[in-house]
Amino acid sequence: MDKEEIIKILNVNFVRELEASMIYVRNSFIMEPCDPSRVTEAISVDEMRHMWWLAELIVNRGGKPTMEHKELDFGGDDLKGQLERQIELETEGINLYTKQIAEIDDEEVVGVLKHILDEEKRHRKEFRIRLEALK
Ligand SMILES: [Fe+2]
Ligand SMILES: [Fe+2]
Repeated sequence: MDKEEIIKILNVNFVRELEASMIYVRNSFIMEPCDPSRVTEAISVDEMRHMWWLAELIVNRGGKPTMEHKELDFGGDDLKGQLERQIELETEGINLYTKQIAEIDDEEVVGVLKHILDEEKRHRKEFRIRLEALK
């Protein structure tokens, strides 16, 4: 896999992390109950850290982080819909990172992706606990 291809993949991830951090920041202010709101706010900061880690990998390989995100889907204005959307985002990330870890042959990149993957699994678990608590 050449450098350009790796930069392209890293930028796809960077934008996804940007979208997740914006969605979580917004939702954390909309959510009324304290516990899911605080958890979502804390996780939005994790997603921004993921952006930094990815941006560093991109720049070190001669690329530039892209900020061209899609239209944001927040999961609506109710807590259940928001938590479901957030779980969906984490699952998409988990699937994508798992696939990339198997395919990318750059050791440094794989190391960072594994670290991010572990955190996304923890995020999904945190959101699932909050969703279960609604039932
Ligand atoms: Fe993330
Ligand atoms: Fe996450």
